[in-house]
Amino acid sequence: MSTLRHSEIAGVGHYVPSRVVTNADLTTLMETTDEWIQERTGIQERRWFEEGKDTTANMGAAAARKALEMAGLTPDDVQMIVFATLSPDYFFPGSGVLLQRELGIKAPIPAFDVRNQCSGFVYALSMADQFVRTGMYDTVLVVGSEIHSSGLDKTTRGRGVSVIFGDGAGAVILRPSTREGHGILSTHLHSQGEFAEELIVKEPGSNREDRVGYVVANELDMYPYMNGQNVFKHAVVRFPQVIKEALDQNGYQPQDLNMLIPHQANLRITQYVQQKMGLSDDKIFSNIQRYGNTTAASVPIALSEALQEGRIQRGDLVCLAAFGSGFTWASALIKW
Ligand code: UT7
Repeated sequence: MSTLRHSEIAGVGHYVPSRVVTNADLTTLMETTDEWIQERTGIQERRWFEEGKDTTANMGAAAARKALEMAGLTPDDVQMIVFATLSPDYFFPGSGVLLQRELGIKAPIPAFDVRNQCSGFVYALSMADQFVRTGMYDTVLVVGSEIHSSGLDKTTRGRGVSVIFGDGAGAVILRPSTREGHGILSTHLHSQGEFAEELIVKEPGSNREDRVGYVVANELDMYPYMNGQNVFKHAVVRFPQVIKEALDQNGYQPQDLNMLIPHQANLRITQYVQQKMGLSDDKIFSNIQRYGNTTAASVPIALSEALQEGRIQRGDLVCLAAFGSGFTWASALIKW
């Protein structure tokens, strides 16, 4: 038996840009319909950032301030930052250091970025959990923040991808658990690199003799590519698998779950997972209808809204699960 302490989520917050983009708005940019988007994905609207106002780092900071407030802490209490994003402010340095600056944290605390796309937040949470469990840090800020809208092909050519993704940010504060048997019980991380090119933004890749020259001449390669049907096929297998793995490790059955917060990839994927796990509607959370797929931000935004709506109570068994580009997939089981 492990004698390590557990960590618990002491605060959660989210921020989404104020600009709402409906499916009807998209029909003015490309050949698509509200009916197609809703039928295939469940999405009704998403948020797009405002240039000059929202940045990946400052949206993360806005979410972090709310999480800190809920935890009764200030930015100066943070001892480490883990920032999950696939849309960093810069090619380098990572958005973690920008978040440190944005929050006004003067101490030279560690800050790093995690690049695991839709699974990024659960990966980041797992990493933060290890630092708290070992006793290295007591207060770790974990952020998922994304700006997709600036990098989407908003023409008919890109419609298979661009109608799905949205912008937003979520954050949690991890602290050592003060209640025996409560907190993050376990985390489970997986990847399968043979599918790396199935959901990808290829450029600007470093393997070009002159990558800047290359992207100037081949700008379309900077848009995301997704083999949607193959991603879907793997997602509906990996989600139930990684949720079951977390339950098995802790001696629970699917019916013991009080709330499943899946990465908001597609409402159809979520419904399939719900049915496969035998969960009633009150035990699974969906907000993709309003935000689209915000990759690394989707799980903490959903967790934050589920808490705000009173759908998670103290003592509940909560599972976070994600699947996406890489392929990567992950889960975390939490006794709230
Ligand atoms: O976050 C984790 C990563 N992402 C996912 O989990 C996404 C997984 N995949 C999916 O959710 C689905 O594959 C999509 C929703 C992306 C696409 O649904 P699909 O049923 O796989 O559609 P498709 O790509 O096979 O396209 C079907 C048709 C095509 O027309 P034809 O060739 O049948 O005439 C597309 O050109 O739908 C067309 N189409 C559209 N039509 C209107 C594709 N995108 C659109 C669009 N509006 N936005």
